[in-house]
This record gives sequence, C-alpha cells and structure tokens, in this order.
Amino acid sequence: IPVDPFDLVIFGGTGDLARRKILPGLYRRYQAGQMPEEARIIAAARSDHDDAEFRDIARAAIEEFIPEGKRDAASLDEFIERLSYVAIDATGDDGWAPLSEKMREGMIRAFYFSVAPSLFGPIAERLHQHGIAGPDSRIVVEKPFGRDLASARKLNQTLAQHFDETQIYRIDHYLGKETVQNLMAVRFGNVLFEPLWNAQYVDHIQITVAETVGVDGRGAYYDKSGAMRDMVQNHLMQLLCLIAMEPPSRFDPDAVRDEKLKVIRALEPVEPYQIVRGQYEAGGGQPSYRDHAENPRSLTESFVAMKINVSNWRWAGTPFYLRTGKRLKARTSEIAVVFKDAPHSIFGAEAGRHRNILTIRLQPNEGMMLGVTIKEPGPGGMRLVDVPLDMTFADALGPEAEDVPDAYERLIMDVIRGNQTLFMRGDEVEAAWAWTDPIIQAWEERDDAPKPYDPGTSGPEDAQMLMHREGRRWREIRD
Ligand code: BG6
Repeated sequence: IPVDPFDLVIFGGTGDLARRKILPGLYRRYQAGQMPEEARIIAAARSDHDDAEFRDIARAAIEEFIPEGKRDAASLDEFIERLSYVAIDATGDDGWAPLSEKMREGMIRAFYFSVAPSLFGPIAERLHQHGIAGPDSRIVVEKPFGRDLASARKLNQTLAQHFDETQIYRIDHYLGKETVQNLMAVRFGNVLFEPLWNAQYVDHIQITVAETVGVDGRGAYYDKSGAMRDMVQNHLMQLLCLIAMEPPSRFDPDAVRDEKLKVIRALEPVEPYQIVRGQYEAGGGQPSYRDHAENPRSLTESFVAMKINVSNWRWAGTPFYLRTGKRLKARTSEIAVVFKDAPHSIFGAEAGRHRNILTIRLQPNEGMMLGVTIKEPGPGGMRLVDVPLDMTFADALGPEAEDVPDAYERLIMDVIRGNQTLFMRGDEVEAAWAWTDPIIQAWEERDDAPKPYDPGTSGPEDAQMLMHREGRRWREIRD
C-alpha cells in the first residue's frame, strides 16, 4: 500500500548515510510501489550542487549499494526525477528561502537530520524561523544520540524547544530489522511461549552481535565511542528490551515504549567483574585496532561481553549475557533463549542432557529455530537427540519472504506513516545512558585496558570465562 504523498528533506543529503542507506532505501520502496508518484526528496547540504549534479551522486550511490539484479533502469530513472538539491548553510541564512519555496502545500513534511548532532539545534530553529516546519512535520534523527546522559538530555531539550515528542523519530536501525519485529509477533501472537518466558523456565539469554569488519575508515569516530557506546547502549539494549519486556496492552508506540523503558530502569548496575572488554590485534593481513584508530595507546574497546541482571519478578535469577565486537569470526547477530533442563529425566543418565533453545537469528539467514528433543529414530532404544524446529521465513513463506525490506526502508516509511513504534522515545534513550554512564566512567577512572584478542576469533578468552565460571557457554559464532 503506498504511503501518502510527502516532501522529505535530507539534511546531509550527500553524506555517507544518505548514499549508503537512505537513498538506496527510498529507491527500493519506490520500486516496490510503496512511494506515491507525488513524493519528492530534497537533499540539503553545504556544497554547491545543482539538481543534475545531485541526481548523478544519487544514481551512483544506488548503483553502488543495490546489486544489479535488484534494480532496473526504468524505475531508477523515474525515481531520480523525484530528487532535487538545495545548498544550505545550517548555521547561517543561505539556502533557507529556496528550500521553503520547494516545499509544497498539503504534503507530509519530513526532515531527516543526517548531520552532526551539533547542527540539530540550528537546523530545527531555522526550519521554524522560515515557516518550513509546522506542528505536523516529522523529524528523523540518528545515533549517536549523545555520548552520555548529560549530552543526550541536552539534545532532547534542544529538539523539544522546536518539536513535540510525537514529531521526533529517533532511529535505532536494529528495530527496523525484520526478525526483531518477528520476535514480537512470536512472543505475543502465540500462546506457546509467553507462559515459559520467565525466570522459572529460562536459564539465561544470550545476545550476540558479531561483526567481521574492523573500524577502518571510521577510527576517528569509533575511538571516542567504543563498543559500549556504539552498539550496547542502543542496539543490544533494544534487543534486550524486546526480549525482557512485559506484553504491552496494544501494539502502539507508547504502549510498547513504556514497557521497554521499564526494562531499562530495572537493569542492575553492572560490576566490573561482570564485564570483559577487548581490542583486536593485527592479523590476517589487517592492522590492529590501534592502527585503525591511529591511536597507539588507545584504551577503547572494540569488543565487550557482559552479564546483566534484570531486577524484576519476571527475570530475577535469569541473567542476560550480551556480547558484541569487531573483527570476530563471523558476521552474525543472534539471540538465544536457553530454557532450563527438564526437572527430572525419565530416560536415565545415558539419555544425556537436553535443553530447549530458541534462537532468533537477525542476520544473516534471518529466522527462528526452536531446538526440541526427540527420540533418535531406529531400534536403538530410547536415545534422545536435539533437532531444530525451523521457523525460517524463507522456507515457510516462499520466495517473497526472502526479499524483506532493509531496516532503513521500513523505518523511513514508518516516519511517513506517522508510526513511532519502532523509534526510541527520549526518556528511553536517557534511561539507557543512565545505565551505561557508570560503566564507562568506572573504566575511565581506572584507565582500564581492554584485553587483546586475535581477529577471526570469538573475542578475548575472558569472555568465555564469564560464562564458564557459571557452568554456561556461549553459542558458537558462525555464519
Ligand atoms: C552501527 C554501528 O550503528 O551499526 C556500526 O555504528 C556497526 O559500528 C553497525 O557496524 C552494525 O549494523 P548492522 O546492521 O550491519 O548489523
């Protein structure tokens, strides 16, 4: 179903995110027939370009980031015609009047702030000064949303001077991933899981976001962030919330976000011995983290693993283990809900120990798998074996399910539809920083040095110990 006609202004429209994600994502939605003919996309940035030059930039980006078989010349030409460009001075006066002239009456107005957070205030202010944004406009902002509680609060306050919370769409692209939403469908659309979804039946939960890439090319940003700020405070935290939250009364933005917020507020502070930080070494012909970051003494972590306790009735006693890192063995994002052993085995000790594990695979090979124990076929007596009950969408739902929209595509369309469910609310972001801050502060105060790890591994040995000492083990990181 096409969305309503809109004018979307992308501040930072020639930047990396616009080229990699926003423009290709919009094209894909156009191609899928979801974007109405009247939709217009206006890129606004500092450099001097005319429409034709910007269209060339956009075309090149789409050709670079969408594989050849997934685009066609005709729809690409049509899409490109919907693009235009305004050179704008975010902190001055130039360009605002021309932008104002381009905006059409009666259209949804959305403004994507794909710029440094220091420009949020000046842009928001000028949008109002020039009468470009009104009470129905929407703005989209990206991470990093602050680097600690104080800066996030300040950003929220700045935006709140110009926009109501219902107009602000804070993107965490993990929430736009297909399986993340399916996690909610599985939890709340079935009667099967919810009764078992608690400390009585769940032994522990693992959340892994492993990457094979290093920080090459973005060392300057990354070295000031580290895995904790770059991944845990936002993406992993959001995953944890969706697993841990109570069923919202409705699938509506505030009902869902209220429940997520309660989870974040129930997180216990993490003690230093419950966290392992790591930093990758050189290997496989690639430089070390410190070389990538061009900071030979960097103490920034490119890997972190931790144990988190959620202090509420549902989860007391069931830890959540999180880990994420760069230059690991494989690129994989996975959540595993590891259920407890059956209370009593009627099959005797030789039947072995069997556990139900629900794995929710975000990427690659999105899908869900429920490990169940059955009898090994054959006459060999009652021997038990674990088999996966495969809920992988591609197989069950046919080829269309394979062509799921990328997170950005879906989220941008949600902005136009006015649906904030998959966006973070201001108080959620602040609560996440309030939990993260003391952890980072403690590292900084102690000049804590991350443990080195070899690329292509599962991270530092200590991360394994985090689980082993409690009789548990991480699932293997693999494609
Ligand atoms: C970004 C981080 O938010 O997410 C990157 O800044 C990371 O460091 C990326 O690589 C991972 O996203 P995805 O969708 O590739 O898992």
